[in-house]
Amino acid sequence: MTSQPRPGAVRAVSQTEFTLRVNGGEYPLRTDARVTLLDALRDRLGLTGTKKGCDQGTCGACTVHVDGKRILSCLTLAAQCDGREVTTIEGVGDESNLHPVQESFLKHDGFQCGYCTPGQIMSALALISEGRAGTPEEIREYMSGNICRCGAYQNIVAAIQEAAGHDAAL
Ligand code: FES
Ligand code: FES
Repeated sequence: MTSQPRPGAVRAVSQTEFTLRVNGGEYPLRTDARVTLLDALRDRLGLTGTKKGCDQGTCGACTVHVDGKRILSCLTLAAQCDGREVTTIEGVGDESNLHPVQESFLKHDGFQCGYCTPGQIMSALALISEGRAGTPEEIREYMSGNICRCGAYQNIVAAIQEAAGHDAAL
């Protein structure tokens, strides 16, 4: 006979142990197996540069790289990244040593409130390394998963185009 949990009983949550490798550091973690990479980065490692927008895969604010490919960290379980190489915006540059893409976003005013910007930059880096930042049309297409509520799209495209080594079209 299968025993049913009593009404109101607290179910045991399955915990899992794994190691996140983020921006060159190693972080052993023990978490609920359902914890997303986004929540692990923000709540467990204090890496709040990666933003939570929709938390359901539609805005791109949570974009990070795993093994050099961009992914949505709100749709990825942290435990799936065991031993893989995670890069967040904190691993791209800092105030005293900005990455050229960050410089270009500053130069072209590629943001207003800045909430979407970490995700935009992580996607832009992927685009450039994949050779998909050749024209404004191409940039718009491959950046279409990154939503900007402030509507800074024109400047974002210009920033990416210049960072990719092309003339910035404003
Ligand atoms: S927070 Fe992940 S896509 Fe919006
Ligand atoms: S700069 Fe505000 S959402 Fe993009």
